[in-house]
Amino acid sequence: MYIKDLHLKYFRNYEKEEINFSPGICLIQGANGQGKSNLLEAIYNLCFAHSFRNLKESDLVYWNKPFYYLQGTLCLQQRFFKVEVGYDLLKKRKVVKINGRNVKQFHLAEYCPVVFFLPEDLELVRRGPEERRRFLDREISQESRLYGDLLSRYNRVVFQKNQVLKEKRSNKEIKELTRPWNKQMVYFGSRIIQKRAQVLSTWSTLAAHNYSVLFKYAPEMKIVYNNFIGEDAVFADIEEIENRFYKEISSWEEEEFKRGFSLLGPHRDDLTFLLDGRDARRFASHGQQRSAVIALKAAQIQSYNKKNEKPLFILDDVFSELDEWRKQQCFLLLRDAEQVFLTITKKDSCLDTFLEQTACSSFLHVQEGKILEINSNGKNSTIC
Ligand SMILES: Nc1ncnc2c1ncn2[C@@H]1O[C@H](COP(=O)(O)OP(=O)(O)O)[C@@H](O)[C@H]1O
Ligand SMILES: [Mg+2]
Repeated sequence: MYIKDLHLKYFRNYEKEEINFSPGICLIQGANGQGKSNLLEAIYNLCFAHSFRNLKESDLVYWNKPFYYLQGTLCLQQRFFKVEVGYDLLKKRKVVKINGRNVKQFHLAEYCPVVFFLPEDLELVRRGPEERRRFLDREISQESRLYGDLLSRYNRVVFQKNQVLKEKRSNKEIKELTRPWNKQMVYFGSRIIQKRAQVLSTWSTLAAHNYSVLFKYAPEMKIVYNNFIGEDAVFADIEEIENRFYKEISSWEEEEFKRGFSLLGPHRDDLTFLLDGRDARRFASHGQQRSAVIALKAAQIQSYNKKNEKPLFILDDVFSELDEWRKQQCFLLLRDAEQVFLTITKKDSCLDTFLEQTACSSFLHVQEGKILEINSNGKNSTIC
């Protein structure tokens, strides 16, 4: 997948910009606060029609302007889609169009192959379970439309159940009221667990291979999915997961009544990175933890390539966080994607050397919400 062109109007700190892209590497350079991340946010918005961080639409509108409007052409599965996304502040109305037609549910295809790499992802191993879960959900929702639907339904059910558990009622009443919710939790939750288990198993195998190739003489890496069904969830069929889930959730009724909220389900899952069988969170060095994340990102790209659609790879300021060696290893990943957007504050020799050997790269300079395209000999070619 790649983006052919992008028009921005009153989006974040961009007043009006038009940019053409080609497949390959697009380097976006600029000092802090100039609009690099905003440009990536626009790209994300175009691909998914919602904000990356689930921010309010009104935050995306240029200050004191009445709307924002994005338009772009995406090439996905060898088809071109003209996508328009806009938000009107006064009418509080969002409009999304594909090929000129208003759409209610925004889906370009079964999945939209975009892999994001943010500086905070580098800290994934040492962060809390909630952040890892959020990461997992964000990434799998991009890979599977169905997963996103299941997740929002599941979360709604957990919310409703928690409302009931908070009420001051007798134990018997609470049980009667929560049982129907439990059934729904089992239905949606089992499918979430199954999908997470499958995706993580694929990622784990690919990441383990990447870790050993990228970081030679490295310990053996594994990603383990922690859930109450057990490590064998990936081999279980859906009925089996449902049965285990139902049995387990029924045994927690008393405790949930006492504590007043839902205690069991995929909303409490986590993942563990193992290096030579040991929890990387507790035993690995900071550098090794970051290497594990790089290996995982590579795995995500490869899992799209296995489906015959090379992804879009977006890296926001990741390189400034990495040492020379890890930077070099990270460059290797860029070639596996169809198109790469990567932001940096300063150009460095390491990156220059890599780009010299890589065909098809373009270079944008961002300054105060204006985008300048620089051609290969370093001169401004056009003001896009
Ligand atoms: N809705 C908005 N309207 C106008 N400017 C905005 C809006 N949201 C953020 N900005 C400005 O965008 C700049 C940050 O852009 P960002 O893309 O995060 O910078 P960087 O180049 O460091 O990634 C800040 O100067 C901020 O004031
Ligand atoms: Mg930024």
